[in-house]
Amino acid sequence: MIIFKDHTALKRHLSRLKTVGKVGFVPTMGALHAGHLQLISTAKEENTVVVSSIFVNPAQFNDPKDFQKYPITLEQDIRLLEKEKCDVLFLPEVSEIYPNGFSQLEKYELGMLDSILEGSSRPGHFQGVCQVVNRLLDMVEPHQLYLGQKDYQQCMVIQRLVSLTGKSVTLRICPTRREESGLAMSSRNMRLSPAAREKASAIFQLLNYAKTHIQPGNLSGLQQYGTQFLSEQGFKPDYVSFANAGNLELRDHWDGKESLVMLIAAFIEEVRLIDNMIIT
Ligand code: PAJ
Repeated sequence: MIIFKDHTALKRHLSRLKTVGKVGFVPTMGALHAGHLQLISTAKEENTVVVSSIFVNPAQFNDPKDFQKYPITLEQDIRLLEKEKCDVLFLPEVSEIYPNGFSQLEKYELGMLDSILEGSSRPGHFQGVCQVVNRLLDMVEPHQLYLGQKDYQQCMVIQRLVSLTGKSVTLRICPTRREESGLAMSSRNMRLSPAAREKASAIFQLLNYAKTHIQPGNLSGLQQYGTQFLSEQGFKPDYVSFANAGNLELRDHWDGKESLVMLIAAFIEEVRLIDNMIIT
């Protein structure tokens, strides 16, 4: 695996390879786990060259404490990427991504995606995601971009970014990788005590419960049941919501036909966990 810190050298290297095959790109913030590695292995199967990036993007953390506590495990990440046969790792400095600082950043027209669910709980978060992803896509210019369904709303935001900017990259969305307990793998899980980690599987239990118990009609009963269930399990729920799986418009009613996604965000031990499942 070749490591680049400078985007001009990266571009030069990739421009040669692009003449012979497809480039797949897996952006990350490091602290890699099996969920990230699954994106790398899918990208390996579908491309000639796989580029991954590790950059803990300050612009997408609305909570400075969350940014400071974000786990950094660079040496281990490099070992894991090498084992997965990732071809190129891009490790930019903040100045490489934000050469003009943070004051005059582009604003993206994300519509309601920016103001619901993660958008309302984490103001500015998706603008930060767009800023870094747009910059990384300009640097890597991949044929295919690999994202995890675990961050459902982020996938939709990046899809919007790609269409707003007219980039010719194909989005490949990969299924959520889970612990044996059902807990969605996340770099933030490292901050949980063993007891909280065990309890955290309640989110997956709730998603499955909703999938089997959803009935056409009003969804508020199921929503209230979910909020109460999570509270009883020691969580501080942020949202338990249903939305159209295709465009993320929120729904409090199901007609028995529409494809719905259930989305959950909840705190445990001050760690914010998110998960989702297509339930109909
Ligand atoms: P990060 O949280 O490191 O995630 C990088 C990619 O891995 C994202 O596409 C995410 O959805 C995916 N991922 C995380 N956990 C997963 C799991 N359990 N199963 C499958 N895929 C999983 O998401 C980000 O970084 C950043 O916002 C980023 C897109 C890199 C921009 O800074």
